[in-house]
Amino acid sequence: MDPATFRAEFPVLDRLAYLNAGTTGPAPQRALDAVRERLELEGREGRSGQAYFSSTIGLANSVRAGYAAVLGCDPEQVAVTGSTTDGVNTVLSGLDLRPGEEILTSDEEHPGLLAPLARARRNRGVHLREVPFAELANEVGSSTRLVACSHVSWVSGQIADVAALTGTGVPLLLDAAQALGAIPVDVGELGCDYYACSGQKWLCGPEGSGCLFVRRDRLEQLEIPWPSFASLADPGRPLDFEPAEGAARLDHGFPAGVRNAWALAALEVLSAAGWEWVHEQAATLAARLAEMLAERGLEVLPRGRSTLVSVLPHHRDPAEEVGRLAERGILVRHIPGRDLIRVSVGAWNSEGELERLVELLTD
Ligand SMILES: Cc1ncc(COP(=O)(O)O)c(C=O)c1O
Repeated sequence: MDPATFRAEFPVLDRLAYLNAGTTGPAPQRALDAVRERLELEGREGRSGQAYFSSTIGLANSVRAGYAAVLGCDPEQVAVTGSTTDGVNTVLSGLDLRPGEEILTSDEEHPGLLAPLARARRNRGVHLREVPFAELANEVGSSTRLVACSHVSWVSGQIADVAALTGTGVPLLLDAAQALGAIPVDVGELGCDYYACSGQKWLCGPEGSGCLFVRRDRLEQLEIPWPSFASLADPGRPLDFEPAEGAARLDHGFPAGVRNAWALAALEVLSAAGWEWVHEQAATLAARLAEMLAERGLEVLPRGRSTLVSVLPHHRDPAEEVGRLAERGILVRHIPGRDLIRVSVGAWNSEGELERLVELLTD
């Protein structure tokens, strides 16, 4: 793939060095066009009738298949949600957690995982234990009912040792907000039980999009936390409460056509470029950035082959530094409470943008 051709898919890159996909990815022009077309269709044709209904459900199932392709699983193993947090909430609310059971998590987790865990602690009486990210597998004990942690740490860009974690035999819920679309993923190979993902970050979808992978043998063990029309095998007999086939029973809400039109078009842009290329290009650029920053004497947090680079700014307040960079057309973020600036590097970025960032951070 020619990097310049790929960059041209994202109009924001004409104006800004967009280095914050870890929060929200850049919107591809083709996704914006798909949204416009969908809105025009809804306005023109109305939102009623069998054809409209079938096309809306069909779009949701195409998105499910698109997520499944990136996850490396079957569409039946994927629920369409609104966020990583939704997926985490689905798993924690669906599991029959008992007082005194332990959930092991790390000290580098995002509120999107920690808030649902905190509720499980308060309402279900589970014991929550936070340990260093790199120590998770060693800390699994006999009362550990679940390990819930990031696949890629949003703080440092380190990658969890998933093989060691699955090797413990304890069920594993991975928060994949900084993983799916960012690094190569094959949920079958990973062997995790649940994999909760954001659509709006590295998949360049709209806010309020995402998915949840549930391993086949785990599906029947999950209660359906938010039953709806979509959860049912036969919506004509809702009181039978016979669950729909596959993880679709865990879908969140009625499928929103506009959301799914955007999500699908964005997935198509990325898969047309080739996922292997997308992952390799982003990881190589991120590694190059980390190297350039270190060469200039800045402290970069130890990281894995991910797309996040976290750096301690030289004698400057990170939040102010993020604002100063934004005024110069470079979008990054700071990590509250940790004095870090986090740079998210995608395949859409250029080495020139990274050089400009390094110049400004070290001037
Ligand atoms: C590691 C991690 N988990 C969860 C989230 C929350 O994602 P979402 O808004 O999709 O729930 C984020 C978002 O920044 C994140 O970085």
